[in-house]
Amino acid sequence: MERFETRDALQAHLHSIRVQGQSIGLVPTMGNLHEGHLALVEAARNDSDYVLATIFVNPLQFGPAEDLDSYPRTLEEDCSQLEAHHCDAVFIPSAEEMYPGGLDNQALVTVPGLSERHCGASRPLHFSGVCTVVCKLFNLTNPDIAFFGEKDYQQLQVIRKMTQDLCIPVSITGVPTARLPSGLALSSRNNYLDPSQLETAAILQATLKEAAGKLEQGNQEFKRIEDSAKTRLTESCFQPDYFSICHASTLEPATTGDKSLVILAAAWLGQTRLIDNIIITLR
Ligand code: PAF
Repeated sequence: MERFETRDALQAHLHSIRVQGQSIGLVPTMGNLHEGHLALVEAARNDSDYVLATIFVNPLQFGPAEDLDSYPRTLEEDCSQLEAHHCDAVFIPSAEEMYPGGLDNQALVTVPGLSERHCGASRPLHFSGVCTVVCKLFNLTNPDIAFFGEKDYQQLQVIRKMTQDLCIPVSITGVPTARLPSGLALSSRNNYLDPSQLETAAILQATLKEAAGKLEQGNQEFKRIEDSAKTRLTESCFQPDYFSICHASTLEPATTGDKSLVILAAAWLGQTRLIDNIIITLR
């Protein structure tokens, strides 16, 4: 597996790949790779000739009081895992390489509306930071397909909208969430949980499943379902941020008759903010 640290070296190499007629699959990550990321690499391996992963802990998507400094960094293990999963190359830029003019002078990409709800309400600059770095990665690498986890469901929809609105010629593939047997979604932030919190954390997915079951049985009392889920989370030591039954693509509150739904949830467990979701198609 080849490693690139500069944009120039990466772009020169990708030019030679494209000249050979190979399609490029891009897997953007912030490192500390787990089975969820490796599923993205596998999907990219199946759907493209050349698989490029990126590892960059993007400072632009962290708020001032968030965990940028403590975010787990495990570069050598990450590279070994990528290699074992037949990734062809990894781009590991520094912050200076991605933002040569500094963070404060960087032009930003914003997706209004969709970015302002749910996680965007608690993390106001987060999606603009994500869109800006993803847009830069798309422009630098011109991938045919890019792969993102459904675990970050809102991020996936925001990136889809950015790509459409800005006419970026890349197809976006969402990959199902990887989970522990307990149901807990894999996340780098699970590293912050102690063993007892790790057990409790599985209640987030159990609560989503319970709410999904009610919807599938025809219950349309969205507010009541949301409130009862928040109560269950609070009683299980979580501090819920939001628990919202939404239309699956607009992420607007669900309305009676919507068939394509997603329930999005975020909750604090101690100092750790966990997110998860469940996608539901009603008959
Ligand atoms: O999902 C992530 O790991 C990040 O938000 C992403 C898409 C790599 C952008 O930094």
